[in-house]
Amino acid sequence: MLIRSIHLALGYTVEIASDFRGLAGALATLGIDRAVIVTNPTVRTLHGAALAAELQQVAPHWIELPDGEAHKNLDTWRFLVSALLVHRVDRNTAVIAFGGGVIGDLAGFAAATVLRGLPLVQVPTTLLAAVDASVGGKTGVNTPEGKNLVGAFHQPKLVWTALHTHRTLPVRERRCGLGEVLKHAVLDGPGAFAGVNAGASELGGDDENRAADAVALSVAVKARLVEADPYEAGDRVLLNLGHTLGHAVEAALGYGAMSHGEAVCIGMIAAARFGQELAGTSPAFVRELERTAAGLGLATELPADLDPAELVTAMRFDKKRERGMVKLVIPVSAGDVRLIVVPDTALVRLAEHGRVRK
Ligand SMILES: NC(=O)c1ccc[n+]([C@@H]2O[C@H](COP(=O)([O-])OP(=O)(O)OC[C@H]3O[C@@H](n4cnc5c(N)ncnc54)[C@H](O)[C@@H]3O)[C@@H](O)[C@H]2O)c1
Ligand SMILES: [Zn+2]
Repeated sequence: MLIRSIHLALGYTVEIASDFRGLAGALATLGIDRAVIVTNPTVRTLHGAALAAELQQVAPHWIELPDGEAHKNLDTWRFLVSALLVHRVDRNTAVIAFGGGVIGDLAGFAAATVLRGLPLVQVPTTLLAAVDASVGGKTGVNTPEGKNLVGAFHQPKLVWTALHTHRTLPVRERRCGLGEVLKHAVLDGPGAFAGVNAGASELGGDDENRAADAVALSVAVKARLVEADPYEAGDRVLLNLGHTLGHAVEAALGYGAMSHGEAVCIGMIAAARFGQELAGTSPAFVRELERTAAGLGLATELPADLDPAELVTAMRFDKKRERGMVKLVIPVSAGDVRLIVVPDTALVRLAEHGRVRK
């Protein structure tokens, strides 16, 4: 059952549904009658039968990739490209990315490159993929030199989120998505920020309307910034709120130790605390942000054993520096998030703000 439909100026619709019913019709409307489903064994075991039942008419071919970020690399992409070509796909064969962000990025990159572009349909099964990775058109893989350094912009023809798939998500993956939902609410404005506590905490619960609202809010915020700046030359960078420190926390702890969205949440709170010095962020807003994050079950402080100096090294490596200056995304209040240029020595302060001094 469809709950929300969001048509994006990028030229496609994000459908937020309870389950897969209606997906076959949506594909038919797009003229898609051949499809390959790209997934992994975890997702196929949990939700493959339901998807197969809906897509009986299309009789899609299935390709399974190994599960995990460690496999988001050129070897898996090469395997997938071969599997698609051996299956004799043509330019009308849709690639259906059925899984989390890893599957979405890999299947998307294969869809972007095979025959110079196959139609892509995103069926995100994690909250993070539904609220972030499936929208915006970025696809790609990691290399030994770094994350997401090889890829392409390739917008999907359709995004179909079936909320019932999120019910099987482990808590950690749910929290990962909630970190980005909170970020999108801060980017949007006071109404969304106030509403996120009630709505987002329901994700995966019984009230699918609230869950759909939280996903729809995220999609709308991300789409608005991407539509205005599809190739990341301007305001799209505001989506990096929380990510400067967040990426450093992930790197310092070792990838996988803390979920991405939770690290982003700590980064966003640190940026808001720093905003009190830099941009007039009010202490009341910082407290509200901390309270909301805690209400969603997200960490608000850096882990005690993390050395801020180590984080600064990671941030220096991560950040593009121009003449000793770096750009930080700082929340002033809900709906007022700014890009502020500071000397790179300020990264030390940002790391220190990751922990409230006792
Ligand atoms: N393209 C973009 O714009 C963009 C944006 C954000 C993140 N990303 C990428 O997304 C990736 C992270 O995505 P993710 O957090 O979804 O990770 P993921 O794809 O690795 O999924 C997390 C885990 O959950 C499992 N899973 C998926 N659906 C499930 C379900 N319904 N029930 C139970 N388990 C399920 C997966 O098999 C996996 O083990 C990263 O590689 C990141 O770079 C891309
Ligand atoms: Zn992120």
